[in-house]
Amino acid sequence: MNRVVVHDKTFKVFITKDEIRSRVKEMAWEITKKYKDLNPVFVPILNGSFVFAADLVRACNFDSELSFVKIESYKGLSSTGKVDIKFGLDGKIGGRHLIIIEDIVDSGITLMNFIKEVEKLNPASITIASMLLKPEAVQHQIPIDYLGFRIPNAFVIGYGLDYDGLGRTLEDIYQLDEEEK
Ligand code: IMP
Ligand code: MG
Repeated sequence: MNRVVVHDKTFKVFITKDEIRSRVKEMAWEITKKYKDLNPVFVPILNGSFVFAADLVRACNFDSELSFVKIESYKGLSSTGKVDIKFGLDGKIGGRHLIIIEDIVDSGITLMNFIKEVEKLNPASITIASMLLKPEAVQHQIPIDYLGFRIPNAFVIGYGLDYDGLGRTLEDIYQLDEEEK
């Protein structure tokens, strides 16, 4: 399946599921080396990171806990600039090592705001793992400790990422097909 149509737009395969799988394994190995004896708390940011988070935490074969948060900032193809934290971390975060899991860092607004909130809970450390980064879109420099891929500033779907609610269950990552615009 080289191209898919979602709502009114056509998308083409950009990163295949095999490329994703091997990169996630490498990231998990790096995380394991550092966190295997620290019982960290993984904090996936819903909805987008649910697929990446499920793969990453299962590839990290050591004691860890999970606490989900839900943050919304996107409508359609662009960020609203406003960040809405829908439900927060459940207690017991003070003194713990947190590994925030994000699908993609675009402007960086979501993570910047979230990190500010999380710092108030006095964790022992905050680490960021993101599957994707759009360096050309970044407005707030976020220290990403574990990064899957740097990608151009084009809209992507699949592997958890959506276009107005659709496309999250695609196994590969697809990019908006500019020729079809
Ligand atoms: P930021 O706040 O601009 O960094 O945007 C981060 C959030 O916007 C991510 O967690 C995604 O949910 C969403 N997002 C950013 N770029 C894309 C994209 O290309 N496709 C789908 N969602 C995106
Ligand atoms: Mg997201």
